[in-house]
Amino acid sequence: MKTVIVTGGAGFIGSNFIFHMMKAHPDYRIVCIDKLTYAGNLSTLRSVMDQENFRFVRMDICDREGVDKLFAEEKPDIVVNFAAESHVDRSIENPGVFLQTNVIGTATLMDASRKYGVARYHQVSTDEVYGDLPLDRPDLFFTEETPIHTSSPYSASKAGADLLVMAYHRTYGLPVTISRCSNNYGPYHFPEKLIPLMIANCLNDKPLPVYGKGLNVRDWLYVEDHCKAIDLILHRGRVGEVYNIGGHNEMRNIDIVKLICRELGKPESLITYVADRKGHDMRYAIDPSKIHGELGWLPETKFEDGIRKTIQWYLENRSWWEEIISGEYQNYYARMYGNR
Ligand code: NAD
Ligand code: DAU
Repeated sequence: MKTVIVTGGAGFIGSNFIFHMMKAHPDYRIVCIDKLTYAGNLSTLRSVMDQENFRFVRMDICDREGVDKLFAEEKPDIVVNFAAESHVDRSIENPGVFLQTNVIGTATLMDASRKYGVARYHQVSTDEVYGDLPLDRPDLFFTEETPIHTSSPYSASKAGADLLVMAYHRTYGLPVTISRCSNNYGPYHFPEKLIPLMIANCLNDKPLPVYGKGLNVRDWLYVEDHCKAIDLILHRGRVGEVYNIGGHNEMRNIDIVKLICRELGKPESLITYVADRKGHDMRYAIDPSKIHGELGWLPETKFEDGIRKTIQWYLENRSWWEEIISGEYQNYYARMYGNR
């Protein structure tokens, strides 16, 4: 039986990854570490909480003593680090906590991984470390060789962590892998991000705040496809390598918002153009040939199907997101969108 520590498992992608792993590898023991920040939600993990091969530990990944003690107890074979401050707009408002969790937290986990001899440390990174691409060069894509060139405090903190991961590999021989994925969507996505925010606002007949002209392009991937890619990298990926993950599904923000209006039968008059994000990246687009060629990974869910499944999930799980948006989120929303 392998023991896998999954950090940030009460968040969007981490929870979907735990569900995937418990199905795909029922003989593994999964230990989730999560601080339960505003973005972490224990109710998301309800369906696995009582399973024998699952353990939840509320802990900050920057808590050196706590992390060391847990590693000593669990002796993990694999560590997958999803825990992060993940929202670009919040990083523009308050960068400090991004440096703390995303950089110092990563170092803390790697120190424990070294000490207790984990067989694989996997860092969940992002395509945002590559910066952005121009709209008028649709022939350009991010490859693993694209230089790091960050735009926001969020992406800079993720890039800092990536550099540290490669340094631990070279200096100490820590067996690491890094994945850099494009924008995910799917169930349990926190409603501060574009797709769930627009779904929630549409369902509440609230204005749909589109930044700038809505022409920025993102490369959307259904969250399950990301989870399957990480599983493959853990088991068949080469140590010391970076793998880009993305499915050639580029869409403009405005087209996504209009599609959500159509699917929910709401008028496009809800769309409100608001002041642009500072330093707003124009286009992200992943070249996934490495992971396809080496590991045979391809996305399985087409965007038309994935977005319908996602909207259906938000319709059927209203209490999950209504509880979130009724709390501290109200202050966040007023701060972020009130005078925009
Ligand atoms: P999320 O914000 O939904 O979840 C983050 C989780 O980490 C939360 O459960 C939170 O409580 C936990 N956490 C935060 N700080 C912590 C700390 N100090 N100690 C322990 N736990 C802490 O994020 P997400 O969208 O699921 O992203 C997960 C990872 O994937 C991040 O590393 C992010 O950079 C990366 N990523 C996200 C996307 C995307 O589209 N969402 C795409 C590519 C990569
Ligand atoms: O590319 C991967 C990244 O994708 C991850 O590393 C990040 O953790 C994740 O948050 C996401 O970053 P983005 O900034 O691309 O996602 P977000 O959902 O915040 O915004 C998507 C696009 O929509 C972006 O161009 C900004 C725009 N937007 C966003 C919000 C929240 C709006 O126009 N209005 C909004 O209200």
